Amino acid sequence: MPSDTKLTLDALVSFCKRRGFVYQSSDIYGGLNGVYDFGHLGTLMKRNIRDLWIQSLRNKKGEIVQLEGSLLGPEAVWEASVHVPGFHDPMVDCKECKKRFRADEFDLKKGCPSCGKNNWTDIREFNMMFKTQLGAMENASSTAYLRPETAQAIFINFKNVLSTSRVKIPFGIAQMGKAFRNEITPKQFLFRMREFEQMEIEWFCKGSEAPEDLAFWIEHRLLFYKTLGINPDKIRIREHESDELAHYSTSCVDVEYEFPFGWKELEGIAHRGNFDLTQHSKHSGKDLNVFDEETRESYIPHVVEASVGTDRLFLTLLFDAYHEDEIENETRVVLKLHPAIAPIKIAFMPLTKKLEEPTKALYEFYAQKGISVQYDVSGSIGKRYRRQDEIGTPFCITYDFESEQDNCVTIRNRDTTLQERIAIEKLPEYLGI
Ligand code: GAP
Repeated sequence: MPSDTKLTLDALVSFCKRRGFVYQSSDIYGGLNGVYDFGHLGTLMKRNIRDLWIQSLRNKKGEIVQLEGSLLGPEAVWEASVHVPGFHDPMVDCKECKKRFRADEFDLKKGCPSCGKNNWTDIREFNMMFKTQLGAMENASSTAYLRPETAQAIFINFKNVLSTSRVKIPFGIAQMGKAFRNEITPKQFLFRMREFEQMEIEWFCKGSEAPEDLAFWIEHRLLFYKTLGINPDKIRIREHESDELAHYSTSCVDVEYEFPFGWKELEGIAHRGNFDLTQHSKHSGKDLNVFDEETRESYIPHVVEASVGTDRLFLTLLFDAYHEDEIENETRVVLKLHPAIAPIKIAFMPLTKKLEEPTKALYEFYAQKGISVQYDVSGSIGKRYRRQDEIGTPFCITYDFESEQDNCVTIRNRDTTLQERIAIEKLPEYLGI
């Protein structure tokens, strides 16, 4: 019987390491705080998330084109985007234990969360961008930054895309890729990292249509989470209060998920006005207007943005999928991941070592089709099932002595644990491959 298991963050971190999903980066050197490496299963699952995200953007209103922008950007870009003057978090140090904190995350009057004392430095503004130098000459023109969001690469390429992609307003530019933020206190595993990945779409539309398009994208993005099978009781929309809005934003909602550490932002969906293109037009001196054939007027398009962290979604999916239930008086851990998200789709298992050859041939057949499959021969069948349940493999296929005669195998379903006998030649149809 499925149970509503309360998985703690610490338990998930060790699960991810034990099963090869995620490791602390530079682990053997003591670890790099807020930075993580993805193992085999994590890499496969992350790739599935990206694929599903890009597919999910298809819509009836307009086309979506893709971009892969650079990670480094010159200072001018980040001046225009207001990240140089404004991308700050308030920082404070405890003078007693020397620990550093974000001053807006707790009540300073209640004392230091680490040592309990109440002896603080002044609050300083800390810019969260990673600054670097291009080439050997150090001067103002060689200063560059690692991007703190993928969005700006889209805005600065707006004209390039418009003139080379035959797209017309409204349309969207989608991008997935790394972003970097020197978070003062990275925490909660993949929730707040210093190096992370974003999946962002910037939707360019007329200002008059932006409120309707914002509503459209909120619905569209919620549908995505529904399609992934995330527990609907744990997903909600929260509208930003006017004092929460970012400087560029006219209205904004967060898609929130109920993590074990509370309701937190998973994705931000915002009407950014025409702030970004106006800023880049001013700072670069380039005309970023588009021409409206109907009204015969030029205008700077408005932007609706939907932005989600790939790693944060990865964390969400793991929390949501993790279940413990009871089978034959034993506790079973099962990741009830959507089959499209599951890192391994099918595990092939010979009943005994004597049946390795035909089982391997079957495994090879599916591997060569590009399907993510695993071959598992060690331990009892029960143990092998548990191993696959734990990593979310939707189907296990067992080849036994009867298979030699009847050309059938046993297919076992992860969620129901039911087993069916099925002809080998019917497997692709059964699996929808
Ligand atoms: N372009 C808009 C933008 O970057 P944001 O709310 O700062 O807005 C968007 O970030 C999303 O990126 C967040 O909803 C979250 O999923 C993810 N994200 C932001 N900072 C992150 C961090 N330090 N670690 C992991 N994911 C992060």
